[in-house]
Formats: sequence, C-alpha cells, structure tokens
Amino acid sequence: MTSADPLVLGIESSCDETGVALVRGNTLLADVTASSMDEHVRYGGIIPEIASRAHLEVMVPTIDAALDAAEVTLADVDAIAVTAGPGLVGSLTIGASAAKALALALGKPLYGVNHVIGHACVDQLVHGDFPERVMALVVSGGHSSLLLVNDIARDVRQLGQTLDDAAGEAFDKVGRLLGLPYPGGPHIDALARDGNPHAIRFPRGLTAPKYAETHAYDFSFSGLKTAVARYVETERDAGRDLNLPDIAASFAEAVVDVLTAKTLAACQRNNIDTLVIGGGFSANSQLRDKAAARCAEAGIALRIPPIRYCTDNGAMIAALGSAVVRAGVAPSSLTFGVDSAMPLNVISV
Ligand code: KG4
Ligand code: ZN
Repeated sequence: MTSADPLVLGIESSCDETGVALVRGNTLLADVTASSMDEHVRYGGIIPEIASRAHLEVMVPTIDAALDAAEVTLADVDAIAVTAGPGLVGSLTIGASAAKALALALGKPLYGVNHVIGHACVDQLVHGDFPERVMALVVSGGHSSLLLVNDIARDVRQLGQTLDDAAGEAFDKVGRLLGLPYPGGPHIDALARDGNPHAIRFPRGLTAPKYAETHAYDFSFSGLKTAVARYVETERDAGRDLNLPDIAASFAEAVVDVLTAKTLAACQRNNIDTLVIGGGFSANSQLRDKAAARCAEAGIALRIPPIRYCTDNGAMIAALGSAVVRAGVAPSSLTFGVDSAMPLNVISV
C-alpha cells in the first residue's frame, strides 16, 4: 500500500450477502458482511424478495460498521465501487442505489463493477497483483465461469461457463436428493472425504469428442444430477442401503474432474502459467485437492484465496474497484442500470 493509492469503498449486494469493505491499494482495511441466509434456509433456496428486504434493512448499518472498523470516515473515501451485476435485480438495486447516493452526496467517482470478476480479483488482496495473464475459474452456487484475464481492469474474456447448473448448485441439488440439509455443498464435501471417488462411474458432462470444438470450456452438471437420482432410485428399488460417502465422493469426483480438466486444458492451450480459483465453491476440498495435484503436474501456479474471501463479500468489489481506479478507467455514470445478466467481458459499466 502507498499513501498515493486511493481509498475505495466497495458494496456488494447481488444475492443474500450485504458486504461492505474498504481497500487501499491491495490492502484490506475492513470487510463487514451481513447475511440473510438464515431466513432462506427453511425454503431450501434464496427467496429474492426476502433478500432485497434484508439488504435494505442492513445496508446503512453495514456501511457504518465497515467505516468504523477501518477507522475512516466517508470524507476519507476516494472512490465508491458497487456490484452492477450479475445477480438478483432487486438485491443489486439496493446496493447500487446506496452507492449512487453516497457518490452524489460526497462528490466522489462511482464504479459499477462485475461481481464474477470480483470473485477472481479478490485474490490480489491476498497474493498481490496478478501477473500479466492469468486464468480464473469462478465457481459458486450461482456461477461456474472460466475467464481468461489479460488485464483485470481492462481485458477479461469468458472462455466457458455452465450451460445449466453451477457447481455449487449441483452439489446443493444432489444434497437435497440425499436428504442433506440446505445448502448441501459442504455436507457432500464432508461425506465425500470418507468415500471412494471411484466407487460409482458417474457421467462427465460435455467431455465427449463431439463437444471439443463447440463446448471445449463449457460445463454441464444437470445430466450428472439426473444420473445420481437414477442411481439412488435403482439402489432403493433393489432394497440396498445407500452408501452415502461413496455416492458423495463419486459425484464430487465427476464434478471436479471436469472442472479441473477443462481449466488446465485452457491454461495449456493459451500458454498461461497461473490459475486463480474463486467463488464459494472453491471451499470444496475435492476441488482444492484435484486442482493442486493437476496444477503441480502441469507446472502451473495455483492461487486460491482463503475461504472467507471466496464467498460473497464487499472485499471482492472493493478489490476490483481499486484495480479499476488504479488503471485509470473512467468512472460509471450515476445513471447506470444494474444488469442481472451482466456479460463477463464487461469489467465496469
Ligand atoms: O459464493 P457463494 O457463497 O454464494 C454464491 O454466490 O452462490 O457460494 C455458495 C455455494 C453453495 O452452493 C454452497 O453449497 C457451495 O458454494 N459450497 C460448497 C462448499 N462450501 C460452499 N460446495 C461444496 N463443498 C463445499 N465445501
Ligand atoms: Zn458470488
């Protein structure tokens, strides 16, 4: 951090987390998160209207808490960054409205930035600025995206994405199928650690040779989910006890095998020697283990931030805001609209 670096306030509200953080350069000064997840658990999924109301209630207290924790005032803030998309439109609107009001009242520049790119950029707070070109795999309950990052502030290209469920979403759906609590991801992870990943051969989506041209870097997990459902049904019909650890381990293996194989192929074909993994699903131990093993084998440096940076938070948005401000990118207009389906080559609006 240098004192010349701008102090950036970041606001995240794309889903169920209200996150506010302050960053100077790549130094995180405060990161405060309020989550409405407890209110969604009984529905087994995020209810957008409940999430929006929760953002509205906690937005101002969360901003105040972050300023207090960083021991700064609003007058010290040099720029404001906020998630412009993708995400739930009502939730995004609460964060964007708060950020616009602050920018207008303080006369400070506003940057509407991309949530998914933030998941990659947050790693700069932990491991420093990215080298010139990196590959980023962003995996969570809402996204599974493979990004070629030529310049995190100016040039990001999407190489692939999921065509149906995100990786975490697939885990959550299989968790429900196996009777595990919501969200099922961490429960499957725990079960899988005691199972045999090669016990059941589940399908690897979009890996057949016919997809090599059209979907080389895309993912699909819905067929896998159906295969698990069919397997469970067959076992039950036959009166056999389910071996949950083996099912969990074999399912997890199918997901992380495809994620890492396609990601490593993309690194090699694009001559990229650094891989960044971000998003809530990067907490998954099967993914961490397989990515570490395959990167070591291929001579690729692997950067995964600690788990607290991988889930949705304000730090990722402040980090991307800081990168964009330092690169001299023009601020967003105060009239920008949030975009629930913001394209992944748009870093800031
Ligand atoms: O990034 P995140 O907190 O929220 C979204 O933007 O989606 O990611 C949450 C997702 C959920 O689907 C959750 O089940 C999954 O990440 N997840 C995991 C693990 N920890 C979180 N999935 C598998 N194994 C884990 N250890
Ligand atoms: Zn996210």
